[in-house]
Amino acid sequence: MTIRLLKTMAFLAILAALAIGTAAPVTARDGASKHVTRRMALMTSQKAAMDVLAGMMAGRTYFDRDKARTARRQLIRSTGTIRKHFKKPQLDPRSHARPLIWHAWKDFKARADTAETAARNLSTRSLPALRRTLPSLMQSCLSCHEAYRNTPNSFTTH
Ligand code: HEC
Repeated sequence: MTIRLLKTMAFLAILAALAIGTAAPVTARDGASKHVTRRMALMTSQKAAMDVLAGMMAGRTYFDRDKARTARRQLIRSTGTIRKHFKKPQLDPRSHARPLIWHAWKDFKARADTAETAARNLSTRSLPALRRTLPSLMQSCLSCHEAYRNTPNSFTTH
């Protein structure tokens, strides 16, 4: 391979990278949107509460009714504010939210409601009760992400 060809290939790779950059949804003028920061923080805290419950469900940690109850309360509260957190159609370079959210707002809201209902229906009375009720909440997280969140790097595959 000649140096010239390598240079051309490098140039094309840079061009491709730039094209991906401009195709990404970017609307915040100064780079970071406080709405995006807040909704990411909300999601991260939900994940932490889910991890507590999932750990118990999988037997990685002992079932602890008080901790489970606290996690359930957190999840009810946070899933109940998903709508509010996504109301403003804001994106920034860190965000993996699909713009589709604001074109399909009714469906997005319905999925947030489904997650809230599933959080309320969690039973933390006993380990078997948790095992029975946690999967539908997990499913509601995953199905919303499938529809409205780009997984990091998904733009390289399609
Ligand atoms: C109604 C839709 C919806 C539901 C329900 C939902 N999420 Fe999300 N979640 C999103 C969207 C959209 C994003 C991407 C936000 C962004 O990048 O701007 C996201 C992002 C995340 C992130 C990544 C945050 C980051 O810093 O990039 C985590 C973690 C997460 N969600 C966890 C959860 C968990 C756990 C649940 C269930 C308890 C859940 N989500 C339920 C829509 C949802």
